[in-house]
This record gives sequence, C-alpha cells and structure tokens, in this order.
Amino acid sequence: MKNTVVTLQQQKISRDKITMLTAYDFSTAKLMDDSGINALLVGDSLGMVMLGYEDTLAVTMEDMIHHSKAVARAAKRALVVTDMPFMSYQISVQDALYNAGRLVKEGQAQAVKLEGGEEVCPQIKAITQAAIPVMGHLGLTPQSVNAFGGFKVQGRDEEAARRIIHSALAVEQAGAFAVVLECVPAALAVLISECLTIPTIGIGAGAGCDGQVLVYQDMLGLYGGITPKFAKQFNNVGEQMKTGFESYIRETKSGSFPAEEHIFRIDDAIMAKLQREFSRA
Ligand code: KIV
Repeated sequence: MKNTVVTLQQQKISRDKITMLTAYDFSTAKLMDDSGINALLVGDSLGMVMLGYEDTLAVTMEDMIHHSKAVARAAKRALVVTDMPFMSYQISVQDALYNAGRLVKEGQAQAVKLEGGEEVCPQIKAITQAAIPVMGHLGLTPQSVNAFGGFKVQGRDEEAARRIIHSALAVEQAGAFAVVLECVPAALAVLISECLTIPTIGIGAGAGCDGQVLVYQDMLGLYGGITPKFAKQFNNVGEQMKTGFESYIRETKSGSFPAEEHIFRIDDAIMAKLQREFSRA
C-alpha cells in the first residue's frame, strides 16, 4: 500500500518512527523503496550531491521536476516529497502555488517541502488549500545559508529557540502535515515534537523527533565533500565503488575484460566470408 501524509501522521500517534531518505534517481529510489523506507525526499540538496554546487541556491524547478519524476516512478510504497527550490515560492503566493502544482503534475510528487516560518505561512495555506500537502522545514534552512553566514546550528540561545518554537506552531497552524527540524539542539527538538500534533522529522536534531531524514550520500560515504557531524556513515559504499572502478580500469587495460562470458557469437562461416570480402590483408 502506498504511504500518504496520513500514514506519517498515524505513525506519530502510534510512536512508530518515520524513516525518510533523500533520493534523486530511479535505481537508488527503488532500492530504498524495496528496503521499506516510509518516505523519500527529492531534496534540493541534489544541487550539492548530484550537481556539484557549493549550496542549494542554483537549483531550478526543471532540476527538481527531472529528479522527482525519476524517484516517483520507483516509489511503489514510499511517500514522495519534493523540495521547492530557492525563489520558487518566496516571491509571491501565486508563484508558490503555481510551482507546487508543477511539482505534483510534472514531477509526480505527493507533497512538497518548503523552508521557513511565519514568512511562508501564506504560501503554506494557499498550497494546502489547493489540496497539495506541504512539509515545513525549520532550523538550519540551507536556502538561507547566506543570511546565516554558513551552515550553522540554529536555536541555541533563548531568543532563537523561541523563534523556532513559534515558527513550528505557525507552520502547523498554516496547514503543514509535517516539519523537518534541521541542526537544532536535541532538547529543543523534543519540546517542539511534544508541542506539535504533526510529525517532526529530524536531521541533526537528535532522537526525540518523530522521524529521521538523511542525505543518502552522507550515510553511505558517497559524497566527497564535508560530511556533517550528525550524518552517521552506515556503510562506505564510496570505497566499494572506487574498488570496482579501479578493477574495471585495470582489467580493461590488461585485456582480461571483456572475457568469453561477456561476448556475443556469430557463425564462423559467416565471419570467414566477411573476412574474405572485407579484410585488407
Ligand atoms: O534538501 C534536502 O536534502 C533537505 C534535507 C537536508 C532535509 O532538505
């Protein structure tokens, strides 16, 4: 059965932790779906881990639609949530609604995610009123990297912590079905999770959230860049891939690949005839 936003909300009630991973392509999304993941996030982090940008700001609607379609085709059970990229929802409510609609119609997303608190509540309201579920995103919101002066933990002092609590309540009130809490102190995430009726999905926010999300390249050792402190490496697939690539190069250069079992045959008589006709020797 396909997961929906209601599935995730029921998981909060039954205290069944929500598992979410980012996904950007069909093959990886299929592996995650087959593994039983609850939800897939087509994150705008694809700008960094798939496209090699330093941050997420250059990601376009076309990038998001392209990757979202691929993931949606693989997700037989997992809920697919797609990020609204930088400047696709900040300018106006009308823009936000139009672009959220594109992510659903063209990107086949079941829900969209956008970053921010009170300032994006009119957008959240309008999108949810159009029957498109919205996931909020608070704390370290990567699209604000320039305003924050880097990728930094948020909500450490009293005023900042209060702001995040108020934002979480506002985002819930506006109609969001869940909210990502990124890089906030664990105790603050526990308090917010208790205050909200909608699920919190943590990344760098401790185990007290209703669920967790990670960028899959971080958890598998696939991203060469900086790996954040909170991103536990569950496997080093990057090293295994490098070993595979090195073996391929070595065997191709030595001529041991391709071997007998990798080739296709043709009748000897046909080849002899072709050789007589075409061979220069
Ligand atoms: O873009 C993304 O991958 C995200 C996660 C870090 C939550 O927003």
